[in-house]
Amino acid sequence: MFAIRPARKEDAPEACALIHRSIKELCAEDHDGDPIALTGWLANKTVRNIEVWFSQLGLYSFIAERDGQMMGLGTLSGGGEIMLLYVLPEARFQGVSTALLARMEEQTRALHREICSLTSSLTARRFFLSRGYELMPSEDEDDGLGLDAPVNFSKILTSPSQT
Ligand SMILES: CC(C)(COP(=O)(O)OP(=O)(O)OC[C@H]1O[C@@H](n2cnc3c(N)ncnc32)[C@H](O)[C@@H]1OP(=O)(O)O)[C@@H](O)C(=O)NCCC(=O)NCCS
Repeated sequence: MFAIRPARKEDAPEACALIHRSIKELCAEDHDGDPIALTGWLANKTVRNIEVWFSQLGLYSFIAERDGQMMGLGTLSGGGEIMLLYVLPEARFQGVSTALLARMEEQTRALHREICSLTSSLTARRFFLSRGYELMPSEDEDDGLGLDAPVNFSKILTSPSQT
């Protein structure tokens, strides 16, 4: 099993390595190994930026951890937008993203917000659909990075007993 805890600034180097591996190794459906698409996607996922995201007021970041090793991470904005959700490739399909998503939804409710939203990778689309998220119309046609048009999802949160 793994535990979910708030992220700390010191987690940034390990989180950065995890995000890069998750994107490169799990999201081939999105980037198809295209170096330009990958470079664009990874560009803002730097240790420095992650330090800021993990310590910034108004952002809520969580780490899934087992025996001291990071299994996954998620970052939520105060407006209920899921900004990051990544799992270590070795920890895939073990419930890590499900647990992080549930924690971020709980945080959204605690902020008295009723909707969680996100822009999904193609890779994670099935995951979000099966977790009650619905597709939102998108105005973006092309991100210019060689990635497909963004897939926007949202979910109206009910009480935990109803999810
Ligand atoms: C798809 C992904 C998000 C799922 O996270 P996870 O921690 O591995 O998944 P969990 O064990 O919590 O949940 C398993 C769910 O993954 C989905 N899933 C199962 N097999 C899958 C596959 N081959 N491809 C994509 N999704 C799959 C299903 O929805 C499954 O749940 P269900 O069978 O109950 O419906 C993750 O494996 C992944 O690829 N992440 C890459 C990074 C990413 O795209 N992040 C989202 C950025 S918005």
